[in-house]
Amino acid sequence: MLEQAKKPIKITETILRDAHQSLIATRMPTDFMLPIVEKMDKVGYHSVECWGGATFDASLRFLKEDPWDRLRKLRDGFKNTKLQMLFRGQNILGYRPYADDVVDAFVQKSISNGIDIIRIFDCLNYLPNLQEAVNATNRMKKQEGRGHAQVALSYTLGDAYTLEYWADMAKKIEEMGADSICIKDMAGLLVPYRASELIAAMKENTKLPIQLHTHYTSGVAGMTYLKAVEAGVDVIDTAMSPFAMGTSQPATEVMVETFRGTPYDTGFDQNLLAEIADYFRPYRDECLKSGLLNPKVMGVDIKTLLYQVPGGMLSNMVSQLKEQNAEDKYYDVLREIPQVRKDLGEPPLVTPSSQIVGTQAVFNVLMGERYKMATKETKAVLRGEYGQTVKPMSQEVINKVIPGETRLTGRFADTLGNEMDKLEAEMKEWKQQDEDVLSYALFPQVATDFFKYRQAQQEKVDMTQADTKNGAYPV
Ligand code: CO
Repeated sequence: MLEQAKKPIKITETILRDAHQSLIATRMPTDFMLPIVEKMDKVGYHSVECWGGATFDASLRFLKEDPWDRLRKLRDGFKNTKLQMLFRGQNILGYRPYADDVVDAFVQKSISNGIDIIRIFDCLNYLPNLQEAVNATNRMKKQEGRGHAQVALSYTLGDAYTLEYWADMAKKIEEMGADSICIKDMAGLLVPYRASELIAAMKENTKLPIQLHTHYTSGVAGMTYLKAVEAGVDVIDTAMSPFAMGTSQPATEVMVETFRGTPYDTGFDQNLLAEIADYFRPYRDECLKSGLLNPKVMGVDIKTLLYQVPGGMLSNMVSQLKEQNAEDKYYDVLREIPQVRKDLGEPPLVTPSSQIVGTQAVFNVLMGERYKMATKETKAVLRGEYGQTVKPMSQEVINKVIPGETRLTGRFADTLGNEMDKLEAEMKEWKQQDEDVLSYALFPQVATDFFKYRQAQQEKVDMTQADTKNGAYPV
């Protein structure tokens, strides 16, 4: 038998973003990250995911840190490793669709402050919602010679999501000018043999590198990576063992060892990885002690596979039912979810579509009549404001919930005028850097609170320095 050509599997390390977002509510502070950066920079990672997703919000809101400052410090430390971020398409890192000028400015500042790879996704896999971010990244690549647009497909199950659908999407992503594709399996629904078929089908339709991102939630993730790698996937996402598994990614060290001595050997130094793990382990123990890390998220949640809905969506639903003293309706709601999802055009179940479908299912069951009450978000989905869905939405439900209203057939962002000037005018008293306008754009209230906090801290420092100058303190 001929020896198989070498094709080392590339690894994206997630411990500085998704791993702590999934396990400890995104609370890892910058000061804790920086001392280990030099070692992490020597591993040989394809990239380190360290920014975007919920980290931006959590930095401003809970850690009282400037997220841009975190990015610049990480960039200073990582001399050899590409930095990666997660970007919610037209929603950037926030929760509403933004005009294109805000998307452009955000992409530009992300790259100029240190990001190399931008992973862009949309909760409906509606590609027009991703195009502007891809274009902006490509413009930066031309200007600065840095910037890589990765389009991520939110992985889901359902009638519409055949192998042909995924393969066709791969082709479209290549046509829209992206540099690579990610299959983003946020719930851990992709099982090993299906992964082989999926990667093979997509590889047939595109020359772009394919990266697989999954979560350990349902327990199959390590095996899924094995089959995906054998089927030709180019990059996998893993997390250093102290913050791996459970609702996070498979462990980096385990995947590295899995492929040792095979054509997929990463060549990573296990001793170096062990030193890095030693750094993170006491912090994990601390998080367990303080309750920030809940042992519940560390296990295997098999309900994810059973009901084909993300674990987080189920726990949301349980708390909504509890509030209404209707916990006995749990299984009724579980049965209602596929119906609501079908009515809304069978979207993937990822933030925010998962919450929209889940909440509407709860309403339908509690009211004893479908769509007797529809949430504001359900109405927006039906109007097409989130984008177009793979399958048509139910005409009957449209007639009942938004009778006579006009429905969008294109991008919601096209209905918005430029926003940057207006946003800057609103916050200019706080502006210390151009990036502050973008922080304000995403989280107006949270960012303003942070700006006030920052100013108060600076005034404190100024006073101390003035006192020192006046000889109030011994030199
Ligand atoms: Co993830």
